[in-house]
Amino acid sequence: MEFRTLLLLTLLGLSLVEQGFGQRGDVDVREWLSAKEELIKKLEDKLKDVERWRSEVKALEVRLNETVDELTRQKSEVERLNKENEGLETRLNATEKEVDELKQNSGKAPQIAFSASLANFGEIYKGPCTDKTLIFKRIFSNTGNGYDNNTGVFTAPVNGLYYFSFSTYGYNTHVMGAILVKNGIRQVSTYDHPSDDGSDSSSNSVVLRLAAGDKVHMELWDKGRVFDNLNGHTTFSGFLIFPV
Ligand SMILES: *[C@@H]1O[C@H](CO)[C@@H](O)[C@H](O)[C@H]1NC(C)=O
Ligand SMILES: *[C@@H]1O[C@H](CO)[C@@H](O)[C@H](O)[C@H]1NC(C)=O
Ligand SMILES: *[C@@H]1O[C@H](CO)[C@@H](O)[C@H](O)[C@H]1NC(C)=O
Repeated sequence: MEFRTLLLLTLLGLSLVEQGFGQRGDVDVREWLSAKEELIKKLEDKLKDVERWRSEVKALEVRLNETVDELTRQKSEVERLNKENEGLETRLNATEKEVDELKQNSGKAPQIAFSASLANFGEIYKGPCTDKTLIFKRIFSNTGNGYDNNTGVFTAPVNGLYYFSFSTYGYNTHVMGAILVKNGIRQVSTYDHPSDDGSDSSSNSVVLRLAAGDKVHMELWDKGRVFDNLNGHTTFSGFLIFPV
């Protein structure tokens, strides 16, 4: 409304300074005034239009801003969901990997088993000697590579219960037999005194709980002696019963 008043005043001002004003006749002035009034009315109508448009534009801008706000909100919601999804996907991937590993390992304990005899060619009389470790050189099987036929030592690859068996053979001139040793400590053995009966053979077995890295080997008694050839009289075997 202020704008309109201003406009009217301006028009009035213009008409007052218009050249020749006051020198016209009454008729002329009336005509002139009614022409001006008409003009003013037209301008007022235009002004109303402008005001209407302006408020329409304002309303549109409000709606546009609301739409922009809504889009911004939705965009950040989508971003949040994407992040959440990614987190879930990472967890899902990890879980899938675990399940795969479990599947692969289920019903499939580590495969550990070995069997060896003392001689891998010819004949061997072992003992009496200072290095009493029996090195069983001829390998029948060594799944899991726990047994080393260079040292005669079995090293447990995993924690578990293990079964060991061994047999020793020899002649009556010496103590015949051997001792199963775990980490330097004697466990079970075979033994036969020197006697008149020509040859001796005996065997034994044990179940041991071993931790990964524990070592088991066989050794002679003091002054003991064992014999072997390719008949496999003197042997050492072991396997994992189950992991613990
Ligand atoms: C619309 O948003 C613009 C930019 O943020 C702002 O300048 C304007 O004042 C807003 N209009 C309305 C009607 O809220
Ligand atoms: C999940 O695994 C799939 C298929 O291997 C891979 O394409 C995707 O990038 C992984 N996602 C994440 C978040 O690690
Ligand atoms: C260990 O066993 C392997 C396979 O039977 C054999 O080839 C190798 O000669 C053995 N090592 C020794 C020191 O006898």
